[in-house]
Amino acid sequence: MTKLYSDYVKSDFRSFKSDKQFITAPIYYVNGAPHLGHLYTSIAVDILHRFMSIFGESYFSIGTDEHGQKVEQSAQKNNCEVQKYVDDMYAPFHQLMKVANIQYDSFIRTSSEKHKSNVLHFWNKLLDSGDTYEDSYKGWYATRDEQFYAEDEVEDRYIKNSKRKVAKISGSPVEWMEEKCTFFKLSKYNDELLDYYKKNKSLIGPNARYNEVIGMLEARIPDLAITRSRFSWGISCGNGQVIYVWVDALSNYITAMGDNVDYWINDMIHIIGKDILKFHAIYWPALLLSTGYPMPKRIYAHGWWTVNEDKMSKSLGNVVEPFDLIEKYGIDPVRYCIMREMSFGQDGDFSHDRMKNRVNTELVNVIGNLVQRVLAFTWKEFGETLTINDLEDQDLELLKNWDECLENSFEAMKKQQIHVYLEEVRKVIVKTNQYIDFTAPWKCESEEKKRILAVGIECIKRLALIIYPVMPGSSEKILEMIGCDCKISNWFVPLQQKALDKPSGLFNRI
Ligand code: ME8
Ligand code: MG
Repeated sequence: MTKLYSDYVKSDFRSFKSDKQFITAPIYYVNGAPHLGHLYTSIAVDILHRFMSIFGESYFSIGTDEHGQKVEQSAQKNNCEVQKYVDDMYAPFHQLMKVANIQYDSFIRTSSEKHKSNVLHFWNKLLDSGDTYEDSYKGWYATRDEQFYAEDEVEDRYIKNSKRKVAKISGSPVEWMEEKCTFFKLSKYNDELLDYYKKNKSLIGPNARYNEVIGMLEARIPDLAITRSRFSWGISCGNGQVIYVWVDALSNYITAMGDNVDYWINDMIHIIGKDILKFHAIYWPALLLSTGYPMPKRIYAHGWWTVNEDKMSKSLGNVVEPFDLIEKYGIDPVRYCIMREMSFGQDGDFSHDRMKNRVNTELVNVIGNLVQRVLAFTWKEFGETLTINDLEDQDLELLKNWDECLENSFEAMKKQQIHVYLEEVRKVIVKTNQYIDFTAPWKCESEEKKRILAVGIECIKRLALIIYPVMPGSSEKILEMIGCDCKISNWFVPLQQKALDKPSGLFNRI
């Protein structure tokens, strides 16, 4: 039965709206060059930010963590004055954001004057809260993790035939440390946090990470040393002490927010790797409770990358270098493939073989093929885009599949399920390719051919709109070819007729 497109739109128009949100990426240590892990988190947050920006307002912060003993030591190893060292080391991180098309609103460097004065302001609030006291710290510290460890969190291990004390969880060497410092009464907030998380199960994701936090709180958290005195590269708080690098780093979210506090109050979402869960889900919320700032609404921790099943590490020499990766595959294929490679929240393994395979099968054979065959055929037969008008049942069914894709993607992305969104997109593109195979427009009479290709182009427009968050460059390229601008409100708006040029391929087979 033939139906009019305009009737379908009237009966099926759905409206989506997302709340104002503040979404954050971690700020990265500048003691080494950026690697795949840093690229991955940055892209993930960029996709979530771009997606939500389509439906509402989103503010995105990221940056570099430039203080602390670890950074100071690597500057010394390189015989470099520390400020000069961090200036040099920050540059590739900042450059990576450009190359990877990361559309942040704020990039914080913790050695900037703006951040330092913000931290001192926060510091004074903390002192005023009455939640601090002076004592001396005696215990273990791992500089590589910039983290204190309790006796039951360390063990002896043999490294190159000699016995070393290391942190069990990270394997990082620990040193015994005794120094006078300021403490934060973290233990005071233990039960309040436990209670808070038990009442709000959706605050931490995925579930395994939620359980991990509950476990840590049930085991009870000791008070936290929040100053250090053995070195000087940090924000000075008097008495020859500097503020503990994690208090400094976490405060970057306040610096980033600046005057846009309404975003934070409404919805603050922290995206992190699972290695820094304790800092974000325990230390940070306790500091916020103490100083009277609003709490985050969501903390989502993703998993770890390994390389050919080995841990990615500098000593193993298997670090995946992000600039090379982008140079080799192009940024959109990298953005797409690394997000497809693992469920967001699980661990995953990187290999060039799988990367290559995914580019060829999913990008070239599925997405690229659909766009190419529909546009090339339409260009050859009609020389212009076609306006959608009459619909047969099969056309309507296909368009409804696209609507479901949009709806399911939206629901998934509200829960940071990037992999679900990408799978939804892939499925509907496969269906569209099947539709073209099945209706075989090249065998049809002129009117029918016109109708099928109009539906095909309509699907390509939707494809471009929905892949925008993950592959903005390719999306814009398609939209330009068909004369549409990148607004999701164009989902249901029929294309205006526009002369087509001979389409060029989107992705290269490897
Ligand atoms: O921890 N797989 O900085 P950092 C996946 N400055 N993601 C990885 C990864 C891997 N193998 N390696 C690193 C810090 N990451 C602090 C953060 S925030 C206020 C301060 C990603 O340079 C992941 O997001 O060690 C992880 O949380 C982050 O990089 C840690 O980067
Ligand atoms: Mg780290």
